[in-house]
Amino acid sequence: MSSDEDFSLEEESPQEEQRAYYKAKYKTLEDLPDVGPATIVKLKEAGYHTVEDLAMISSNEVKSIEGLGDAFVKIVAEAKKTIETSFISAGDLLEIREKTLYLSTGCTTLDELLKPPLAPRGGIPSQSVSEFYGEFGSGKSQLCHQLCCTVMLPEDQGGLDGKALYIDSEHVLLPERMVQIGSRFGLSREQVLNGVVTAEAFTSNHQIALVEACGPVIKDNNVKLLIVDSLTSHFRSEYIGREMLAPRQQQLNRHMHRLLKISRGYNIPVVITNQVTATPDSFASRVPKAIGGNIVGHNSHTRTFIRKGRDTQRIMKIVASPFLPEGEAPMYLNEYGIISSEQIEKIEKEKEELEKGV
Ligand SMILES: Nc1ncnc2c1ncn2[C@@H]1O[C@H](COP(=O)(O)OP(=O)(O)O)[C@@H](O)[C@H]1O
Ligand SMILES: [Mg+2]
Repeated sequence: MSSDEDFSLEEESPQEEQRAYYKAKYKTLEDLPDVGPATIVKLKEAGYHTVEDLAMISSNEVKSIEGLGDAFVKIVAEAKKTIETSFISAGDLLEIREKTLYLSTGCTTLDELLKPPLAPRGGIPSQSVSEFYGEFGSGKSQLCHQLCCTVMLPEDQGGLDGKALYIDSEHVLLPERMVQIGSRFGLSREQVLNGVVTAEAFTSNHQIALVEACGPVIKDNNVKLLIVDSLTSHFRSEYIGREMLAPRQQQLNRHMHRLLKISRGYNIPVVITNQVTATPDSFASRVPKAIGGNIVGHNSHTRTFIRKGRDTQRIMKIVASPFLPEGEAPMYLNEYGIISSEQIEKIEKEKEELEKGV
């Protein structure tokens, strides 16, 4: 892992061609063998719009679609060749891991906090789900707005040169705020407004349906970041009472698995936000519990807690991660978005110099 290039998707070797990880062997449904227009209609009617949608079906889900018979099983098996190998060596796994892309958050201290020891740079990683949780007003949605901007930047500026897909379950997306944050990164109003695709989720089932259907949107729009803000609010308000806990967790579990599969299947970062419970426990420990309990916790690879500090100060803390050391980092939430003190100083110095006419 000597340079950014080692992580590039462009790199190719004969073995890689064979494995064809993330480098689609079959780019569209039409490319699959023995799949004609009539079959495509049936697949789409059944909710499978992309090769990745088919490849992500788990084995116990491969039931025959009406009118397709055993052909469906074969089609799924073929689609799986695009992104899946059942048994792989640790070396192969490393090769996949090395394809992880890191999306800069636009805040230097946060990027540093999110930098795995051997990675070329820090940020929100692809191939996994990153959860940010904290109390109301801690800055979860602001961070999501900022990530929609940084994802549009070229790779040498920390971006992924793509668009963002924002699933908004709390009616919080503010395009004008995105434009304001984007200006710090040199993004024009048009760039920002054209770079985000959004859908509002009205219920938990609607949210699940949106995520299930987002494959073609990701592909057709060069989406490089999927956000679900917030993951849990509908679940929290719809599933009330102890007896609803088990069904809620079951639905959340499936939803999370789907998000994880999307992050892997498309090699993109998935960011979810989550609220905290107002249990008396919260006062006992410095880090309150997130909604959703263990299911959300186990599935989301990196969990970061956002704590409010004095005024605009925020502290982010890695609560759980398979690849990051524990730690926390200070930052601010202000007109610029989520930003480090060093970055604020730099902007203010530049402004001063401009005013002086230097
Ligand atoms: N234009 C802005 N300028 C400065 N601060 C802002 C601006 N917009 C939002 N904020 C800050 O962001 C906070 C809301 O953060 P938000 O991300 O919505 O919280 P949540 O964690 O509940 O999603 C506001 O209380 C305010 O402190
Ligand atoms: Mg919010």
